[in-house]
Amino acid sequence: MQIINARLRQRPELFSIYIDKGRFSKIEVQESTQVASDNAIDAGGNLICAPFVEPHIHLDAALTAGEPEWNQSGTLFEGIERWRQRKPMLNEEDIRRRVLSTIELLVQNGVQAIRTHADTTDPTLIGVRTLCALRDELKDKIDLQVVAFPQDGMLSYPNGLKLMEEALEIGADVVGGIPHFEYTRELGEKSVKLIIELAQKYDRLVDVHCDEIDDPNSRFLEFLAHEALLHDMGSKVTASHTTAMHSYDNAYCSKLFRLLKNSGINFISCPTESIHLQGRFDTYPKRRGVTRVKELREANINVCLGQDSIFDPWYSLGNGKLLRTLDYAMHICQMMGYQDYARALDMITDNSARTMCLKNYGIQEGNAANFILLEGQDDYSVLRKQGEVLLSVRRGEIIMQRQPSQVITPPWITQATK
Ligand code: FE2
Repeated sequence: MQIINARLRQRPELFSIYIDKGRFSKIEVQESTQVASDNAIDAGGNLICAPFVEPHIHLDAALTAGEPEWNQSGTLFEGIERWRQRKPMLNEEDIRRRVLSTIELLVQNGVQAIRTHADTTDPTLIGVRTLCALRDELKDKIDLQVVAFPQDGMLSYPNGLKLMEEALEIGADVVGGIPHFEYTRELGEKSVKLIIELAQKYDRLVDVHCDEIDDPNSRFLEFLAHEALLHDMGSKVTASHTTAMHSYDNAYCSKLFRLLKNSGINFISCPTESIHLQGRFDTYPKRRGVTRVKELREANINVCLGQDSIFDPWYSLGNGKLLRTLDYAMHICQMMGYQDYARALDMITDNSARTMCLKNYGIQEGNAANFILLEGQDDYSVLRKQGEVLLSVRRGEIIMQRQPSQVITPPWITQATK
């Protein structure tokens, strides 16, 4: 396979990209625009980019909004209640159908790697079992990581810890947690220690739903970062959401950032979900409830973005488009300076791949030929146009192709612009 007239991120030139046996074999600068031939794909000056990565989603709950009841208050806590009502209706066929539909939507929008949470506070562990089986079945088609996630608490749900261990025995890749939702602060701290112990015992990654609340006193993040530092495993540890950081005192935050930086942990923010769920106990002024993405980026701490939900009890919209999530993040977190746009795609590509510890990721000779073609020439234009993903290639095979949409404009515009 050969791609011609392609742009690469942070490079103004046009490139030809050669693929052999599923790997990038040669990437070279073109002297000028090449004429399309039958055996080459013409990128038309558009951007070739590493595939989008979805680092935080709940596939076991996807496409269940309104079943059996809608989340009327819009709070995280009513979402947990509505999910508790839906859980007894789960079975393998139901989960498979919804998960595959959601993965199809994500693939159509350029995603090739997904980290999904799977609820362990269910004695049957049907979500964990089904997602681990699908991960193995789809391993040549998509990178799927499963997080053992105790939605109702690891220590506050009957047999919660035992179920977590069982989920890891089944094969979950990542140890999850929800310390701010445990009944007491002591249980929350104890759960963080147990998460790290389990990760060490089973040699797994860690991704904790950490301080997903507007309470400025919810400070499990410092506990998690310290544990990661103590055990020298920061690159394997992720703090998801950390929305309480939005409400932390600036003086405390300034001290906290030193620890975060030294620990080397990763962050995932889900801006569309958080701005919807947080601030629900405020009148006005109403907090945005999104973690400090801009400040984390500026401190060179690894931060990436996820969708969290697609049409589930917590969030009833969502369409699989990470460019939409990125657009929201840029607005909500006030990252609207030119320097913010220049590397914006990092937050849905490279940074997410680092969080998931993906290997062989990126457009480099020798790496697996996994990439997407985006409408636009660089990060800024792709973000501004919210262009479509035109092509998705995995190990040299086309897995998704889209024809660019055609728009017919009225004659008075066409004539005026001639
Ligand atoms: Fe989540």
